[in-house]
Amino acid sequence: MVAFPRLEDINVTNKTVLVRTDLNVPMSGGKVTDNTRILRLLPTLNYLIKKKARIVLLSHFERPGGKFVPSMSLAPLVDPLSAALGGKDVKFGVDCVGPAAHEAVKKLKSGEVLLLENLRFHAEEEKGSAHFARELASLGDVFVNDAFSCSHRAHASITGIADYLPIAAGRLMEQEVGVLTSIFESAEHPIAAIVGGSKVSSKLELLDNLTKTMDVLIIGGAMANTFLHAQGHKVGESLHESGMKAVALRILKNAEKHGCEVLLPVDVVAAFEFKAQARCRIVDVDAIPAHAMAVDIGPDTVELFSQALAGCKTVVWNGPPGAFETSPFDAGSIALARIVAKLTARKKLVSIAGGGDTVASLSHAGLTDAFSYISTAGGAFLEWLEGKKLPGVAALMKAHKPARRAAR
Ligand code: 3PG
Ligand code: MG
Repeated sequence: MVAFPRLEDINVTNKTVLVRTDLNVPMSGGKVTDNTRILRLLPTLNYLIKKKARIVLLSHFERPGGKFVPSMSLAPLVDPLSAALGGKDVKFGVDCVGPAAHEAVKKLKSGEVLLLENLRFHAEEEKGSAHFARELASLGDVFVNDAFSCSHRAHASITGIADYLPIAAGRLMEQEVGVLTSIFESAEHPIAAIVGGSKVSSKLELLDNLTKTMDVLIIGGAMANTFLHAQGHKVGESLHESGMKAVALRILKNAEKHGCEVLLPVDVVAAFEFKAQARCRIVDVDAIPAHAMAVDIGPDTVELFSQALAGCKTVVWNGPPGAFETSPFDAGSIALARIVAKLTARKKLVSIAGGGDTVASLSHAGLTDAFSYISTAGGAFLEWLEGKKLPGVAALMKAHKPARRAAR
C-alpha cells in the first residue's frame, strides 16, 4: 500500500497552492494536439477552485536544457487550460521564480488560476537544486504534486519543494498510484503483460520484473525479433539486437523458473520495404524471407495472444506489437487492442495501458475509452512496471503521517 497525504489532509482554503502538473502535452504548430493531460487535472483544479485557493500551476515543457527557448514556452497552454476550465480566466507569469513570478502571484485572487513559465528554462530545476526548490516554495503556502508522469524525475519541483512546504497528492496522482499499485498488489490473476517496442536492451529491467510478477508475458514489436533470433529463427532484415542473444535466453529461462508463460509471435507481417503500403506478406516465424523484415504480428499470433488474454483477469499493456504508425503495419496492434477492448466491455478483463506509443496506438485504433484505465505517464509508467520507487511518490510518502489509532 502506498500511503501519502491527500488534498483533504492539508488546508488549502484561501491559501496559495503550488500545483506541480505535467503540461508536457503533444503540440503541433503551437496548438495542443492531445489535451488528455489537461483534462485529467480538472478534479484537482476544480477542488482547489471550490476551496477558494489561489492556484499556481508549475510545469515543464519538453527539454529546453536550462535556457529560454521561445518555442518551448508554456504560454500556448493558457487558452487550452482556460477552455478545459469552462472558459475561466487563466493568468500567465513570464518566469517561474524571481520578481516576475512573485508579482504575478501577488495579483492572484481567491479561486484564480495562474500558470508560470516552463520550469526547465532554469538549469537548477533538473539538477534538483535545493536553492531553486526554495525559491519555488517561497511563492506559496502549500504544495500539491499532481504530476505522476513526472515523478520519476528527482527534480526541484518534484522532490525539492517537499522539503519546504506541507505537501499532498493531487487527485490524478492519487488515481495513478492507486491503479498502478493494484497491478502488483491486488489485481486479479491470471495477469498478463503485453510488451512491445524496439529494443530488449532498453526494456531489460521491465522484462526482468514482469517475468517475476506476471503469469503471462506477451512480447511483440521489434523486441520480439531479438527473442526469435535468440531461439534460432532467421529474422532476415528485421530490426533486432544480435548481441542480446544470451540476455534474451536468460529472460526466457527466468520466466520459466518463475512460472511466467512467455508468448512470442508465431507468424509475422514481413515487408520488403519500410514504407506505407509496401509489399508485404504473412509468413511463419521460421519462414521470414532473407530480404524482408518483420514489421507486425500476423493473424495466427493475434489468435494465440487473444486466447491467452481470454484466460486472464488483468492485462497491463506497454508498447505496441507492430509498427502501427505505418499502414498497413498497424493491423496487428488494432486487432489486439480490439480484443482487449471486447474482453474489457464484457467485464472479463481489467485493462491498464500506459506509455506514449501505446496510448498513441490505442488512440489510432479509436479505443482509448474502451480500456479500464489509461495512464497519463510514459517514462514514469515504465519505471513503475520495472518495480522502481519513483522519487516524487517517495517524497509524498515521506510526508505521510499515519492517523493515530482511535482510543478504545
Ligand atoms: C513525459 O512526457 O513523460 C513527462 O513529462 C516527463 O518528461 P521528460 O521525459 O522530459 O522528463
Ligand atoms: Mg516526453
